[in-house]
Amino acid sequence: TGAVTFDPGFMNTANTTSAITYIDGDEGVLRYRGYPIEQLAEKSTFLEVAYLLINGELPTQGQLENWTTQVEHRSMLDERFKRMFEAYPRDAHPMAVLQAGVSALSTFYQDSLDPFDEEQVRLSSVRLLAKVPTMAAYAHRIAQGHALLYPDNRLSLIENFLRLTFGFPVQEYVADPVIARAMEQLLILHADHEQNCSTSAVRLVGSAQANLFTSISAGIGALSGPAHGGANAAVMEMLDTISAEGMDPKVFMEKVKKREDGIRLMGFGHRVYKNYDPRAKFVKTIADDVLERLGVQDERLELAMKLEEIALKDDYFIERKLYPNVDFYTGIIYKAIGFPTEMFTVLFAIGRLPGWIAQWQEMVHDPDTKIGRPRQIYTGEPRREYVDMAART
Ligand code: CMC
Repeated sequence: TGAVTFDPGFMNTANTTSAITYIDGDEGVLRYRGYPIEQLAEKSTFLEVAYLLINGELPTQGQLENWTTQVEHRSMLDERFKRMFEAYPRDAHPMAVLQAGVSALSTFYQDSLDPFDEEQVRLSSVRLLAKVPTMAAYAHRIAQGHALLYPDNRLSLIENFLRLTFGFPVQEYVADPVIARAMEQLLILHADHEQNCSTSAVRLVGSAQANLFTSISAGIGALSGPAHGGANAAVMEMLDTISAEGMDPKVFMEKVKKREDGIRLMGFGHRVYKNYDPRAKFVKTIADDVLERLGVQDERLELAMKLEEIALKDDYFIERKLYPNVDFYTGIIYKAIGFPTEMFTVLFAIGRLPGWIAQWQEMVHDPDTKIGRPRQIYTGEPRREYVDMAART
């Protein structure tokens, strides 16, 4: 089998070739299928970007209409899902509820489980894009103890999601177009990021020929970790703590630099981006727009800006090439819209879904795909003889 290379965290090991997303960490470049992220976030819709990631090309007008209609008409869940959601404890984390829900799609939609049947894969992909936002909204509603609404297919995917999350049965709910557009842009910015932890989890599970729903549920599990998707919630908790304690931002930054209690400036630094994170620049603009639109004065935005200003002039951060990442300002936007902190990572999951689906499909079609099976370097005991119970000390 040849020599085994020790590479914890896969810092230097490529597990696949991929034609989906290009990142240049030194130059701060991110492109989906060749298109710069800034152009897509400016001009595209989330479902258009999903089409691009999954199919490789931007859709024509007709293709986009057909695709959007297919997704928007599948947002309803089997009625038994509601009972399943209602049975979870009220304080269950919405990421855990979402993961369980996506896993359960394999039980309700058994006509779209075959990874090698193109039509079934198309159907399971459309079902995921349509039903994950509904499930995400339900995960939020059960935590609030509020009624679960039925989707309204006259609305766009994002408007529907906002209505399912924030609307009430007795009241007409109309999503603010500025907020709906901001949500759309944030989802686009999160839609793919090549072989990150959750995407690698999706590919690894899929490499065993497990179905798409099950593979995506593994990705949701990986994304729930604070070192990955959970960072957006960690930023908010950090800002809340500094505010609550009335701490001077400079004092907090001194603590970060001295690594007191192991604290880090959450929302700063990235494994790949060592110049700047192109998504972060865009997010700051969205934050300004949303807060202005809602007339929200959030002192946490001022605080975040102050922390950024200090960091960008400080040798500690400059030497280590630490810049704000995508998560630094997203939480402030989500809070202003009305999402509780636990929902932040769920929003990341909705955004990352097209990327997971595209990467899973690429893996299924790739003739080089083999079951993912890393090697190890054994450090345990050498062979020894079984010890009878009576002789054990
Ligand atoms: N605050 C203070 N110091 C930091 C930070 C930070 N946020 N990030 C890195 N450092 C220091 C670190 O202590 C180390 O210093 P030294 O070389 O003196 O020991 C140096 O910078 C390099 O850090 P690293 O941990 O070796 O870098 P990494 O590439 O393994 O980690 C990271 C990347 C994102 C995990 C890390 O920067 C971090 O923990 N950031 C805060 C959490 C965060 O915002 N995560 C979201 C990532 S983007 C969304 C996603 O992908 O899910």
